[in-house]
Amino acid sequence: MHVLALLLLNLLVGSDGWTDTRRRTFPQNFLFGAASSAYQVEGAWNEDGKGESIWDRFSHEHPEKIADGRNGDVASDSYHLWRRDVEMLRELGVDFYRFSISWPRVLPTGFPSSINEAGFKYYDNLIDELLKYDIQPMVTLYHFDLTQELEDLGGWTNPLSVSWFEDYAKIVFKRYAEKVKFWITINQPNTICMEGYGSDLMAPGVNVKDVGAYECVKNVLLAHAKAYRLYEKEFKKEHEGNVGIGVAVNWFESLDHNNTVNKEAADRARAFEFGIYLHPIFSKEGDFPPIIRTIVDKKSQEQGFKTSRLPKLSYEEIKLLRGSADYLGMNHYTTFLVQHSEEKFESPSVEDDRNTIYTQGPEWTSGKSSWLKSAPYGLYKACVHLNLNYDYPPIIITEHGWSTDKGLGDQSRVNNIRAYLGALLLAMEDGTQVKGYTVWSLLDNVEWTAGTSERFGLYEVDFESETKERTARLSALVYKHIIESRVVED
Ligand code: NOJ
Repeated sequence: MHVLALLLLNLLVGSDGWTDTRRRTFPQNFLFGAASSAYQVEGAWNEDGKGESIWDRFSHEHPEKIADGRNGDVASDSYHLWRRDVEMLRELGVDFYRFSISWPRVLPTGFPSSINEAGFKYYDNLIDELLKYDIQPMVTLYHFDLTQELEDLGGWTNPLSVSWFEDYAKIVFKRYAEKVKFWITINQPNTICMEGYGSDLMAPGVNVKDVGAYECVKNVLLAHAKAYRLYEKEFKKEHEGNVGIGVAVNWFESLDHNNTVNKEAADRARAFEFGIYLHPIFSKEGDFPPIIRTIVDKKSQEQGFKTSRLPKLSYEEIKLLRGSADYLGMNHYTTFLVQHSEEKFESPSVEDDRNTIYTQGPEWTSGKSSWLKSAPYGLYKACVHLNLNYDYPPIIITEHGWSTDKGLGDQSRVNNIRAYLGALLLAMEDGTQVKGYTVWSLLDNVEWTAGTSERFGLYEVDFESETKERTARLSALVYKHIIESRVVED
C-alpha cells in the first residue's frame, strides 16, 4: 500500500499501544527532535584529514563482527548529504536536531595541537544550515568514536582521558557556544565502558579483567563533570546553554512481584545499568550507589584483589560530580524482567558482580534488534523511579526508537512511537519534568556491529545505491503530524 494511504488509515484507526483512550496533547513549548551520531551517519572516514577512530580500527580489523559487512566508512554519507538531512528535518518540522561531533574529525590525534579546520567546516555548515531554518542544534560531544591515538594510550581507562576530553570540549564550546544551546557531553557511558572495556562487543573491545570497565566509568563520569564545570564557569553566563549527559535508562523490574530474591536482583540491575552513572550526578549524597560499592568491594576481596575493582571517588570528585547536569538525557528503548541468577559467570566480570539474568515478555511486540521489545509502561515506570530517587530531575528524552527491516511501511514503528509518547504524557501528567523528546533516528544508519541490518530511520536510506537516497517512511509522516498537532492519537 502507498505510504500516504497508510498514513490516512493510521490517522483514522490509531495505534494498538499501551495508552488509555483520552486524546492527549503535548504543551506548546515541548520540543520534538530527531537524532543521529557521527560514526553512524557521516561516512568519509578518512576524508579531509580526519583521524582514525576506534570504530574505524575495530570494523577494519574485525569485519566478521559487522553483521552485513557495512561499516561506517561510507555509512549514510551525511558528510556529503547534510543539506538533504536538513531538508528532511524541515519536512518533519522538528524543533531540534541531535547529532554528534566526531572527535577524530576535528582533532585527528585527539589533542588540540592537531586541530583540523576542514573537519570543523563540516559542522560549521551543518549548524548554520540548521539555524537558517530555525532548527536548534543539540550537540553530543562524544558518541562512541574515540580517536585511535588516544585509545593507544589507554583510552577511557587512562585517568588522563579526563583532561583530554576537557581540552576537546573547550575547543568545541568556544567555537559553537554562540550557536548551540543544547549540549550532551557523553552518550551512554554504560555502552562505552561495559561493552567497550568490559567485553569485546563494542570498540575498542579491550577487556582488562573487568578492572577496565570500572576505571572507565570513573573517568567518563569525571570527564563529563569537568566539561560541565568548564561550561558553567566560562560560557553559561553569556550563552545560557544547557549541558547534560546521555544515559541509557531502560526499565528493569522483577520478573515476579512477590519474590524478594528477584526484587533484590532488579535493584541490582538498575544500579549497575544506570544508577552507577546517575547517582554520582543526580542524587543528594553523590558517589556511586551504596549497593554497588558493597557488592564490588566484597567480590574483589573474595577474588584476591588488593583493592576494590571499583575505584574510589575522592571528596573533591564527589563534589565535582554532584549536580553536574542541567538535565538528564534519557535514552529509553525497552524493558527487561530481572531474575536472580546463581549461574556461574566468568569471574571477575560485570555479570558476575550482578548475578542477574534478563528476559522480556513473550507477548511484547519485537523490533528487528534482538533486545528490542515494546513495553511502553516501562517508560512510565522508569520516570517514576527517577522522580522518586532523584527528586524530579529535568529530563530530555534524547533517544527513543524502533528497528525494522528495510521498507517504507513501518507500521510497527508508528505504533511504538505513539504508544511510548502516550506513556510519556502520562508520566508528565504525574509530574515528570520532560522538556523534549528525540526519535532515534532521523535516518537509517550503521547500527554498530549490526551494520545496516537493523533500520532505525524515519527515513529509509538506500545503502545499495551510490547516491544513498533517502525516502520518508510512514513513520516520518506520522511524526510530522504529531509535531504539528502536538496530539498523540490513540
Ligand atoms: C543507543 C545508541 O546511543 C545509538 O548509537 C544506537 O544506534 C541506538 N541506541 C540503537 O541501538
